[in-house]
Amino acid sequence: MENENMISVTDLTKNFNGFTAVDHISFDVKKSEIFGLLGPNGAGKTTTIRMLSTLSRPTEGTATIGGYSITKQDNKVRQLVGLVSEKMIMYDRLTAKENLRFFGKLYDIPKDALNQRIDELLGLVQLTEWKDAKVGTFSTGMRQRMNVVRALLNLPKVLFLDEPTLGLDPQSTVEVREFVKKINRENETTIILTTHMMTEADILCDRIGIIDHGKIAALDTSTNLKKLVSGNDTTVLKLEIPNVTQKMITKMQSLECIKSVAQENASHLKVLATGDEAFDSIVDVLRAEKAKINSIENLQPTLEDVFLHITGRKIRDKADNKIQTPRHGPHSARRRIR
Ligand SMILES: Nc1ncnc2c1ncn2[C@@H]1O[C@H](COP(=O)(O)OP(=O)(O)O)[C@@H](O)[C@H]1O
Ligand SMILES: [Mg+2]
Repeated sequence: MENENMISVTDLTKNFNGFTAVDHISFDVKKSEIFGLLGPNGAGKTTTIRMLSTLSRPTEGTATIGGYSITKQDNKVRQLVGLVSEKMIMYDRLTAKENLRFFGKLYDIPKDALNQRIDELLGLVQLTEWKDAKVGTFSTGMRQRMNVVRALLNLPKVLFLDEPTLGLDPQSTVEVREFVKKINRENETTIILTTHMMTEADILCDRIGIIDHGKIAALDTSTNLKKLVSGNDTTVLKLEIPNVTQKMITKMQSLECIKSVAQENASHLKVLATGDEAFDSIVDVLRAEKAKINSIENLQPTLEDVFLHITGRKIRDKADNKIQTPRHGPHSARRRIR
């Protein structure tokens, strides 16, 4: 059993009225591995997780979890898995412990065992001192930790985390990532997590599947994925040009050796280039435009570069700032009762 795959996905497909949201994806996840599905909004991550956790039926293909088929043995699969998704229900007027007792009853866990498990899990996510506080008073980060505890109540062998840090402030993001690692280490829980954040995938995942338009575009360890860029004769350059103009960028883009030019801020460009002559060509073009080149730096490729390399597009545009904003609106206390 040791080396066996805990999850095996074969040609998994989901159509919505003729639109293919997940398109014949196949991959395996080993026991106690943290596997990441990394991709932009609309790539098909949530749809995949919903099928794997038996909430949605595949149009085609299947998967096994712990050897059980998600389509033919969904009751068995449900006993093995826990899910943390964005749409989790917590009752604001109940305390942390009351909420967890309520959900624990749904799993038929005997009362004493359940109480003990709740205490342990609240300790694991450092919410012990809040166990008798109403969930309505909790921060977004605390609620997300509650959601994880809830998903762990039935001691799942496999945990699905759908964008576990989406909408969390930086502090809570770090906390959630820490105990995802802890759960994985201490309980040998196999984890599939989805994210559109390159750093998250990089920090947490043993292997990463890059998903785009419902297809797995590449799948490997972060280190090997990055080699797709650097090992492929591609250089990532950071140029500091205080007087940079749109014309300089356009001229560079028209060069054969340039794969992409991204303006990072008023004076910095990030360039993906191929070939031995790239460096000279870039400098020639820039000199002709009277660019003042302060520095050229050779960067290690990031997963963002990998995504760009594979799909020709950026995974997202500057929106990473947005996700740092906590979603506290006037109705934030109410919105979890759905
Ligand atoms: N229930 C549904 N009906 C129709 N289209 C859907 C439904 N759920 C998701 N989609 C579409 O499928 C695609 C993938 O969605 P989703 O799996 O939520 O992506 P992600 O989680 O990667 O952002 C999107 O284009 C989305 O609009
Ligand atoms: Mg999603």
